[in-house]
Amino acid sequence: MQPVGIGIIGCGNISAAYLKAAKSFPVLAIKALADRDQAAAQKRSEEFGIPAVSVAALLADPEIEIVLNLTIPGAHVKVGLEILKAGKHAYSEKPLGIDFADATRLVEEAGKRRLRLGSAPDTFLGGAHQAAREFVDEGNLGSPVGGTAFFMCPGHERWHPNPDFYYQRGGGPMLDMGPYYITDLVNILGPVARVAAMAPQPRRARTITSEPKKGQTIDVEVPTHVVGMLEFHSGAVASITMSFDVAAHKHLPLEIYGTEGSLIVPDPNHFGGEVKFLKKGGEWTDVPVARPYADGNYRSIGLADMAAAIRQDRPHRASGDLALHVLEVMEAIGKAAETRRTIDITTRPERPQPLAQSAGLDRLA
Ligand SMILES: NC(=O)c1ccc[n+]([C@@H]2O[C@H](COP(=O)([O-])OP(=O)(O)OC[C@H]3O[C@@H](n4cnc5c(N)ncnc54)[C@H](O)[C@@H]3O)[C@@H](O)[C@H]2O)c1
Repeated sequence: MQPVGIGIIGCGNISAAYLKAAKSFPVLAIKALADRDQAAAQKRSEEFGIPAVSVAALLADPEIEIVLNLTIPGAHVKVGLEILKAGKHAYSEKPLGIDFADATRLVEEAGKRRLRLGSAPDTFLGGAHQAAREFVDEGNLGSPVGGTAFFMCPGHERWHPNPDFYYQRGGGPMLDMGPYYITDLVNILGPVARVAAMAPQPRRARTITSEPKKGQTIDVEVPTHVVGMLEFHSGAVASITMSFDVAAHKHLPLEIYGTEGSLIVPDPNHFGGEVKFLKKGGEWTDVPVARPYADGNYRSIGLADMAAAIRQDRPHRASGDLALHVLEVMEAIGKAAETRRTIDITTRPERPQPLAQSAGLDRLA
């Protein structure tokens, strides 16, 4: 398969993970790096031997077919629209945007221009998550009943070098971590129909303890302890807690319950991990994860799948429609908490096609 030319806009913290993982996918030919902060692009250029150029030069490069948008969440839609208007396919880091109406414009613009729009997270394509989905699809759990999703930590100001955006509009634990959990739940249980929520803000200010901004204070603009309920079209009801206010806890990241048994799905921030099943009345047993993409960091597999899908003229899995649904759910959780009402979800994407058990690196190459 002929490789697809990729340009990257946004050369901050996460760009290194993409530049490393992309080497696993020969379909990805990374041609250029850009950032509004030229020094950030230059730094990655020196580390990975890929030219650093201006954003305008990258968007004008005829060798680039897909632009990977690794800017901060508040810039995702603006930069995404610039990419599409330059005639390139766009693939965004999560969340697709920080405002559902705004991100809808991105999906519409891509549709109008017949360009692809893709978005992280792509961890649901990891071997463990695909094995969990197949196990549920085979009917082993009976009818879906519900589930739980937990991400709770003391806050990212302990480790991120530039953590301010996590506490500004468009930040918060739900928009930051919710995409991993909700995308995995939608991949397994199908789309969400309705949500309810409560979301307090236990602290108005946070003190950065990571370098180089150690000691600086961030004003908190968003709820930082978000507790929601998701009702799926399937009838299942799951609870989700995303928090930057919890010192420690012992909940598992993701569990799914059915009329016949319970399933433990590993952390959806990673590609692998143990999948465990307990059949009603029985003991916990391992669900085999004999699949590719289960034993490392494949952050860029969604982009590789989109690149291969362009060459193969088929739908890609980490799609703009899926990411828009997840964004609508997350925004509705915020609104439900504010208004003390349940909120109906308007988008209803198809579940992405499962990744065939045999889909090795060569299939995405
Ligand atoms: N850091 C992580 O561990 C992590 C993990 C998964 C996903 N993400 C996601 O990746 C994205 C980027 O996160 P990060 O941690 O790398 O942030 P970061 O702040 O380290 O880097 C973002 C970069 O984008 C650049 N940028 C911002 N607006 C721009 C614009 N309009 N045009 C061009 N460049 C622009 C900034 O100069 C910066 O270099 C976020 O959406 C985040 O949610 C981050």
